[in-house]
Amino acid sequence: MTSSYMTELQPPQKVLLGPGPSTVHPRVLAAMATPVMGHLDPAFFQVMDDVCEMLRQVYHTNNKMTVPISSTGTGAMETACANVIERGDGVLIARNGYFGIRLGDIAERCGATVHLMDTPWGKPVDPNMLRDELKKHPGLKAVGVVHAETSTGVISEVKELVDVIHEAGALAIVDAVTSLGGHDVRMDDWGIDVCYSATQKCLGAPPGLAPISLSEAAMDVVVKRESKVQSFYFNLKDLESYWNQTRAYHHTSPINMTYALRESLRMMMEEGLENRIQRHAKVAAGLRAGVEALGLKLLAEDGARLNPLTTMSVPDGIEDAKVRRTLLNEYDIEIGGGLGEFAGKAWRVGLMGESARERNVFALLSALETILSKEGYEVAFGASLSAAQRAIATFDKD
Ligand SMILES: Cc1ncc(COP(=O)(O)O)c(C=O)c1O
Repeated sequence: MTSSYMTELQPPQKVLLGPGPSTVHPRVLAAMATPVMGHLDPAFFQVMDDVCEMLRQVYHTNNKMTVPISSTGTGAMETACANVIERGDGVLIARNGYFGIRLGDIAERCGATVHLMDTPWGKPVDPNMLRDELKKHPGLKAVGVVHAETSTGVISEVKELVDVIHEAGALAIVDAVTSLGGHDVRMDDWGIDVCYSATQKCLGAPPGLAPISLSEAAMDVVVKRESKVQSFYFNLKDLESYWNQTRAYHHTSPINMTYALRESLRMMMEEGLENRIQRHAKVAAGLRAGVEALGLKLLAEDGARLNPLTTMSVPDGIEDAKVRRTLLNEYDIEIGGGLGEFAGKAWRVGLMGESARERNVFALLSALETILSKEGYEVAFGASLSAAQRAIATFDKD
């Protein structure tokens, strides 16, 4: 018997409409397949500078400390917390989904005294509620919020939240893993102190890098810490040195992932940030209209719905995992299941980066109509498709 590893890897082509990774454009894959350079080669330093310059544009920031961390988004969460928090610091995490819970967990592991403010799943974090909560806990070092909660499909008003956080004299740590590149993220205008993301969602590269940006005030806090950052790998002072100053070796950079990010950012610059955000909004409007026409309930509160990620209820009597399996096996379409409170009850559809295309909306809705009707759910054939078409066709007029 031959082992399967004797066969050359030929991954199947799937339409990636889950919560990430999203589809990667062939130009980005081609960039990854170019020769490996040394991480201390001046030619690579130019690649690094290009990436940082474009990341600053995407974040709308002049922050010098804007670099990709060698990890997925969770590593950036660890980086943000490990560098800002010292043992015993008071921190508040505003949780309205799974990733807020994760942020609270990480802050606690970094030694913070963590206060939690919970908002029901499906709703955005309320600035007034946050203001009241912060009054109960004076002197906090930082407050963490998730801009785009991928578990619920909810977007929170980060600018207003940051204002409230600053009124309380704390630093604002913002998770923009699912928003950066798909929604406006205005680091400087909104006054965000620490903001991180990941490459595999709206930025259009594979998973493996996690861009982070820190304001001067936040970097000042990091530089003036009394205790050593407990993580060697995620220590921002050393990373700053490699990325912006002496270029001193810290760890071996994931060279080809950096090429990938450079190319995906170049594609964003070519498209224009505004156009890209509009593209995400338009396809999301189509999907939402189609989903509602199918009779599925949107789980994020109206007015706080994310564009890159839509959550919907699994209809009664329909087996969540079976539908997703059929989509994957028979239609080559991946969507996500629910996380945490929404496990088994929700589908999560990502229209992110290269996946945010009209053709994907129609492919998914048409497949869902067929699969659900075979499962005994009553479907008016074509209704979801025409609703989506109408929403997309009238989008620019709205
Ligand atoms: C909002 C949010 N934060 C953090 C993460 C963690 O990122 P990763 O899975 O890349 O480690 C995710 C991943 O989906 C996310 O959606």
